[in-house]
Amino acid sequence: MSKLNILEFPDPRLRTIAEPVDKVDDDIRKLVDDMFETMYDANGIGLAATQVNVHLQVVVIDLSEDNSEPLVLINPRYQVIEDELDEMQEGCLSVPGFYDTVERPRRIAVESLDRHGNPQNFEADGLLAVCIQHELDHLDGKLFVDYLSKLKRQRIRTKLEKQHKQEQQVQR
Ligand code: NI
Repeated sequence: MSKLNILEFPDPRLRTIAEPVDKVDDDIRKLVDDMFETMYDANGIGLAATQVNVHLQVVVIDLSEDNSEPLVLINPRYQVIEDELDEMQEGCLSVPGFYDTVERPRRIAVESLDRHGNPQNFEADGLLAVCIQHELDHLDGKLFVDYLSKLKRQRIRTKLEKQHKQEQQVQR
């Protein structure tokens, strides 16, 4: 397994629309394993392939404390089954250090393939529903900061751009 580089906002590659996976083969499973390693290393609970600059519809999630509940979503779709909105504080490995409240539908029905290419359908609410909606947004080139005011998004952009510049100078 190898750790992958995570793209950070406002990198334009995060705006790429992911393509469906044709065949869930060993290459996809290798990507999934690398994504889990990358996400666990960064102490995240979800990661979309878009964030590691692979533009395929692949998402990994693990909400457990001890990395014991890996969930793989390949070619995922969801339908809202309870459109009442819940507010939750969201963060993102591609927007490090920033958290803000986002409203999303409370309950969803999810259809996807698992790491073996088998169909997996389930319903989700609470943190899992939020996480799935957040990760599937990534596959559509969308970030949680898009739900915030323009002013807030601009503030985050400016701070991260400044950080990225400083990091580049250190590397030189
Ligand atoms: Ni994210």
